[in-house]
Amino acid sequence: MDSRTVALIRTTFKAVAAEEGGSEKLARSFYAILFTDYPQVRDFFPAAMDAQRDRLVKAIAYALDRLEEPNKLLPFLAQLGRDHRKYGVQAEHYLAVATSLKTAVQIFAGTEMWTDEVDQAWDEGLKIIADTMIGAAEKETTPPVWTGTVIERREVLRNLTIVRLQLDQPMQYSVGQYVSVQIPSRPRMWRYLSPAVPADTDGEIEFHVRGVLGGWVSSAIVGQTAVGDQWLLGSPLGGLGVPRNLKRKMLMIGCGTGLAPLRAQLMAMAQRRVNPKVHLFVGGHNPCDLYDLETLNDLAVANRWLTVTPVTEHDENPWWYTEPDGPQPLRPGLEPRVTGQIGKVVASFGAWADRDVQIAGSPSMVQTTKFRLMAAGIPAKNIRHDPLF
Ligand SMILES: Cc1cc2nc3c(=O)[nH]c(=O)nc-3n(C[C@H](O)[C@H](O)[C@H](O)COP(=O)(O)OP(=O)(O)OC[C@H]3O[C@@H](n4cnc5c(N)ncnc54)[C@H](O)[C@@H]3O)c2cc1C
Ligand code: HEM
Repeated sequence: MDSRTVALIRTTFKAVAAEEGGSEKLARSFYAILFTDYPQVRDFFPAAMDAQRDRLVKAIAYALDRLEEPNKLLPFLAQLGRDHRKYGVQAEHYLAVATSLKTAVQIFAGTEMWTDEVDQAWDEGLKIIADTMIGAAEKETTPPVWTGTVIERREVLRNLTIVRLQLDQPMQYSVGQYVSVQIPSRPRMWRYLSPAVPADTDGEIEFHVRGVLGGWVSSAIVGQTAVGDQWLLGSPLGGLGVPRNLKRKMLMIGCGTGLAPLRAQLMAMAQRRVNPKVHLFVGGHNPCDLYDLETLNDLAVANRWLTVTPVTEHDENPWWYTEPDGPQPLRPGLEPRVTGQIGKVVASFGAWADRDVQIAGSPSMVQTTKFRLMAAGIPAKNIRHDPLF
């Protein structure tokens, strides 16, 4: 795609999004047009279109912004296309989405900005996105959804639960990837979760879920999951994972359940003979939030290439937390815990410019940590994280 076409799309889109509350208004207008003009697609979407309203629009914006980087964009879109099979989406639905989005942007941009050339640029950009997703979905031979039966539910903190499921058939995801999940009490509300273990040939899978205050799905998982529940899982997504070039040392930074995709990678690396040096910083608000130190300690003791430094924002536990009885476990594999904001702590630890860096956690944690590391001289191209929607 030529750079003029990309520039035309970008300029019109930025003009809309830059307005006060622009992307929220655009998302609302897009859905209004989509559901009015194509009522047959309404049933794909959740009844309540509040918190997640802009995920689809954000994803399209993310793709449009990367039209000049096909090496990264096309694999991302192919994964999304394979994943969208879970909705039962067909080729004609893409036309409905593309037309509605274009109409919504056009209304906001105004007739003066919307020339024939702009119109064609949008058609071209949206066609690349839709064709890539449709093509990948059509070629895929794995199931559109897996069914997972809950076989264990373990509450490790009062708002963090580990759930293990048995899939109806094994899923070949790569370590570091995530999957879209739907639980029985929240129909049509798919949310991403990252498997905390490598893919298992017998089809067992494990997720670590934190209950987000006011969150529809996470609080239902933490509060109501029972053995025997049946979840649905979509196709694997995401590009985190151990780089092919094993000479490059790695720096991993994970907060809260952001640890899951990093832990899965470390477990897979522990099965290999040769690994690059890895320094993992694992973060939480308070010391009691570091829920998986036992596993990390065992991994670090057994694998000399791994260094693990726990980091917490506060030095003490909250008043309501009561320490478990008995002697505190010794963890000789771990470095001493450091107190501070995780991005600052990592940046202060030394020069990381040569490392392959991965950050996983809440969107705000990922953004602030990335900012700190870039300010400390790490090139943006060396820093990887999942899309933040
Ligand atoms: C690539 C990826 C992988 C993920 N992996 C995991 C995982 O392994 N384990 C896990 O527990 N979660 C994970 N998440 C987050 C998860 O997908 C949900 O977004 C989260 O559980 C909230 O969903 P909800 O339905 O409870 O909240 P919603 O009802 O969707 O949102 C309620 C409110 O919470 C806010 N909110 C949403 N997500 C977060 C968040 N992460 N932190 C703080 N506030 C938030 C929203 O802005 C909104 O205001 C992952 C997200 C991504 C993008
Ligand atoms: C045009 C390219 C498209 C892109 C880039 C895209 C991307 C995304 C992304 C990233 C999400 C959020 C995560 C997820 O649940 O998978 C999403 C959600 C969704 N998409 Fe798409 N999508 C596209 C087209 C479509 C089409 C054609 C349909 C069918 C009508 C569709 C239906 C949905 C539904 C139902 C959701 C869930 C929305 C919600 O939870 O509120 N998408 N899309």
